[in-house]
Amino acid sequence: MVQLTNFDADYFHSLEGENAWIALGSEKYQKDYNNQKYFTVIDAEGEKLGIVGIFDFDQQKNLTHIVIDPKYRDKGLLKNIYHKLMEKTGAKFLIATIDAKNIASKKAHEKAGFIKISDEEFENEFQKFKYKYER
Ligand SMILES: CC(C)(COP(=O)(O)OP(=O)(O)OC[C@H]1O[C@@H](n2cnc3c(N)ncnc32)[C@H](O)[C@@H]1OP(=O)(O)O)[C@@H](O)C(=O)NCCC(=O)NCCS
Repeated sequence: MVQLTNFDADYFHSLEGENAWIALGSEKYQKDYNNQKYFTVIDAEGEKLGIVGIFDFDQQKNLTHIVIDPKYRDKGLLKNIYHKLMEKTGAKFLIATIDAKNIASKKAHEKAGFIKISDEEFENEFQKFKYKYER
């Protein structure tokens, strides 16, 4: 059973490095990413499992950002975390933009039921794939 609690910036940076990109608005980060809602994912015992966030950019809504703690990867947590995120924020859909090289992320999102919505032109230009999930 996963729960979403207050965002812990130190924990995020311990997972992803000091200069890791995040949409959260502050002087350090870009201000164009709106409606950021970031959370620390914990289990029933309060153990930290990762970070999940949602934000809007330009015309795009509900872009997601997820990092699962290496200790807890490969356990199928991604889908549970996204369901909790939708419950908590009221989002009706989620969009994930995934680097072409990030095989683990593509596989995990496809397994969770995300459907690829990008076309070849977008994929070739940005070397990224775009996926959508609706409950
Ligand atoms: C992407 C990420 C969130 C996936 O988390 P996870 O806990 O492994 O996800 P799941 O357990 O739900 O699914 C993992 C699936 O990917 C597969 N997988 C994991 N690593 C893989 C790799 N290097 N190559 C191929 N498949 C891989 C697993 O085998 C599993 O599929 P299976 O059950 O069919 O075997 C996690 O790897 C992560 O936090 N990565 C670093 C940050 C990141 O890339 N975030 C996503 C940005 S879009």
